[in-house]
Amino acid sequence: VRIFVPRDSAALAVGADAVVEAIAREAAARGADVQIVRNGSRGLLWLEPLVEVETPAGRCAYGPVAAGDVGKLFEAGWLEGKPHPLAHGLTEAIPYLQKQERLTFARVGITDPVSVADYRAHGGLAGLERALGMQPAAIVEEVVQSGLRGRGGAAFPTGIKWKTVLATEAPQKYIVCNADEGDSGTFSDRMLMEGDPYALIEGMAIAGLATGATYGYIYVRSEYPYAIATLQQAIAAARADGWLGLDIQGSGRAFDLEVRKAAGAYICGEETSLLESLEGKRAVVRAKPPLPAVKGLFGKPTVINNVISLASVPIILARGAAFYRDYGMGRSRGTLPFQLAGNIKHGGLVEKAFGLSLRELLYDYGGGSASGRPLRAVQVGGPLGAYLPESQWDTPLDYEAYIGISAMLGHGGLVAFDDTVDMAHMARYAMEFCAIESCGKCTPCRVGAVRGAEVVERIIRNEQREQQVELLRDLCDTMLGGSLCALGGMTPYPVLSALEHFPEDFGLPSPGTA
Ligand code: NAI
Ligand code: SF4
Repeated sequence: VRIFVPRDSAALAVGADAVVEAIAREAAARGADVQIVRNGSRGLLWLEPLVEVETPAGRCAYGPVAAGDVGKLFEAGWLEGKPHPLAHGLTEAIPYLQKQERLTFARVGITDPVSVADYRAHGGLAGLERALGMQPAAIVEEVVQSGLRGRGGAAFPTGIKWKTVLATEAPQKYIVCNADEGDSGTFSDRMLMEGDPYALIEGMAIAGLATGATYGYIYVRSEYPYAIATLQQAIAAARADGWLGLDIQGSGRAFDLEVRKAAGAYICGEETSLLESLEGKRAVVRAKPPLPAVKGLFGKPTVINNVISLASVPIILARGAAFYRDYGMGRSRGTLPFQLAGNIKHGGLVEKAFGLSLRELLYDYGGGSASGRPLRAVQVGGPLGAYLPESQWDTPLDYEAYIGISAMLGHGGLVAFDDTVDMAHMARYAMEFCAIESCGKCTPCRVGAVRGAEVVERIIRNEQREQQVELLRDLCDTMLGGSLCALGGMTPYPVLSALEHFPEDFGLPSPGTA
């Protein structure tokens, strides 16, 4: 009998390794024939460690399983899929999973992340094999037609970015994967790298074939040691299997890559400072233009894409652009892996086509707040994202619709807060975060964020409140318009949205009472 215990950080953090030891011990003591497989996480984080037992009917889920539960699970007959208080039935039938549209995360939680054979058996490498028979421009066109847009947050069309790199002549080009996932409440990059690293590696190899780049780097945040180790294991296995290196599967075409550990600051995830860091320098933002697509790593044309953008490419090549484009709404095509975090009962990963609402994510999936109190605000898109009040929770999750309400989807992270949150403190925190993480290159951000935190503090203390609110708006205007990159340029979003939607927390009249 095969038993699956995730090796994902989220499962390890709550004792998955001890569960593995307990299963091995109990199985040996009972003479049970058990094979333990370390899979990725299914993304139902409140059930981790989520242990699955393979039965003729399918994989049965148990969770959260503690090492101390294992003996009783054997006694209850879990190897035969028998009921137990920790049992959730067939994993695939759990509504949280069943209602999802998993394209990019199709294999995550199902396969052994480092087994090439498992990857192939679940549809892996079909995209690369097709790409090997195509001209670079045709591969680029397929990605353009799919409608895929940058999943790191900026939503720039991936195919158009690749087209610029393909069109730029140079003796050497690079593919850089931005895996410096710094947004608060986000973990989809990590889950993908730990749960299906080959999808990312295959996507990067396809990007190489499409643009003429022969070498790649995956820049992974230093806080992700398990992702780094998993990627390194996977890269070695892919090389041994002949689909990375000087001669990809006998095609005569080359692509290889390596993992680099990031330098540990939020700004390292901004694409130009990431390049500086990769080049061995301090992560300071470069002015654009030139775009990295034209003059990037070591001055060479470079594709920089987020993990999820690249990992979505294999399925686009394997199933065709139209298959992917059929999901979503408006100009937001395909799916986005949303990440539910903060004060939420059922936190985890929900991959869905664009167009569903925040309310559906919060209640149909998230099950409301973890505290049991009413939800009040949700920050969507990381620390630079707006705080949305309940009146905006029915806006479809779509890039353009969110811009329409002065918000952004970003990397798909959402952090929920209940009615005990103080939004003036959250606004001050946004400014403090920017002050701490600023690279210091431009004045609106370097000085503005420090002044911004002081101004919010004065508003909280009711020192010349009206005048300080005006000053805060002015300052946000300067940061929005005058900052060199998104850190200074977007910090006003959380600040202004808090002020706009929750004025009572700043001691100002709320819209209803004005
Ligand atoms: P941007 O809008 O300046 O650029 C988007 C991308 O398109 C860049 O890679 C840029 O080089 C490329 N590009 C633009 N025009 C191009 C052309 N003609 N040809 C080829 N490439 C072209 O946005 P930026 O500054 O790269 O990203 C800001 C976003 O990052 C924010 O919206 C935020 O959502 C996100 N973010 C994500 C974080 C995370 O942890 N994932 C953390 C912080 C911010
Ligand atoms: Fe650096 Fe902030 Fe300016 Fe960005 S906005 S370049 S982080 S000082």
